Amino acid sequence: MDWNRVRADFPLLRREVHGKPLLYFDSANTGQKPEPVIAAVDAYYRQYNANVSRAVHALGEQATSAYEAARDRLARHLNVHRDELIFTSGTTMAINLVAYSWALPRLKPGDAILLTRMEHHANIVPWQLVAQRTGATIKVAEITPEGVLDLDALYSAMTPEVKLLGVTHVSNVLGTINPVREICRQARKRGIVSMVDGSQAAPHRALDITAIGCDFYALTGHKMCGPTGTGTLWARREHLQAMPPFFGGGEMIREVRFEGTIFNDPPHKFEAGTPNIAGFIGLGAAVDYLDALGMANVEAHEAELLAHATEEMRKLDGLRIIGTAPDKAAVISFLVAGAHAHDLATLLDLEGVAVRSGHHCAHPLMQFYGVPATCRASLAFYNTHAEIERFIVALRKVRGMLGT
Ligand SMILES: Cc1ncc(COP(=O)(O)O)c(C=O)c1O
Repeated sequence: MDWNRVRADFPLLRREVHGKPLLYFDSANTGQKPEPVIAAVDAYYRQYNANVSRAVHALGEQATSAYEAARDRLARHLNVHRDELIFTSGTTMAINLVAYSWALPRLKPGDAILLTRMEHHANIVPWQLVAQRTGATIKVAEITPEGVLDLDALYSAMTPEVKLLGVTHVSNVLGTINPVREICRQARKRGIVSMVDGSQAAPHRALDITAIGCDFYALTGHKMCGPTGTGTLWARREHLQAMPPFFGGGEMIREVRFEGTIFNDPPHKFEAGTPNIAGFIGLGAAVDYLDALGMANVEAHEAELLAHATEEMRKLDGLRIIGTAPDKAAVISFLVAGAHAHDLATLLDLEGVAVRSGHHCAHPLMQFYGVPATCRASLAFYNTHAEIERFIVALRKVRGMLGT
């Protein structure tokens, strides 16, 4: 695999920032887009912009078939049935859909929702809103200081009152890869429904949702080379059939009378209104792009980048890496003694280096580590070993400027 040729597919990576070549280490926040994705969105608007599932004219049919083809591609990529894939604006909407359509009508006082310490706010706040309205409570499974989920604690927290487990596949702060297949098996054995947040797994590894054996799996398209405003919820068919729709409107109906409405079948039952057509056509192109690279190649290449960056960062005095799980994706949260994360990120930006600083939408994790914020370097397959060397030089320089 010629990764330099692959990198050339990403036009944005050729730009400069503050007069320096851009070094983009913020892919966990959002990923950059390759030429075929940009071209697919462009072609839709230039050549066949029309609404989907409504018009019989040629443009309408072309748009509908491109939009539905994206669902086929994503379904194949994830090893699930296409009718179990609901297009959403992202993970946040996907989890909210489960919270309001599955959990809200079911949970009652005395029930519990089990979450882990390393969840993103998107897999915490919707459950709190549902808990407030149903009288259910939230339980939390803890992590070790290395950032590994304490599996014994997790399994012993799976008590009879727990009705739903929310767990992230890969932590957006620690990079920890959770053994979701075994976790979901344990949950299922106890009759607990599992919701996996796959936002940070989908860009980095081959996914076989059927093998994972969860009940719900959410992911977001913009982190996996696709356009913003795209994502998906996969759900077991029996849940989709039993769940009432979350949004009402066009496309999600079979027949509407003032006396009542007969809903369309899943997935359309959950896709009211005009969707992000261009976005999903772009996501279909992103899936093709990733499939052509091969997710196993992506994973292996990123593992090398992670090992290189970790080794070099460990040589820097005063630098602390938060999240040292043995099984990790290419996400490195770090702190430099005596420097605030925002100051570090601001000075790194002046060197052309884009990293994220802040709480990363994971306040409970920041509380666990007793820090208000971290800096986070998150890599993707389009990053290079040379960029890692440049990053280390920039880190040393910034550390010197901050006098740390
Ligand atoms: C682990 C995790 N979950 C959920 C989300 C939310 O994704 P979105 O904002 O695309 O809905 C993110 C995005 O940062 C994430 O990293």
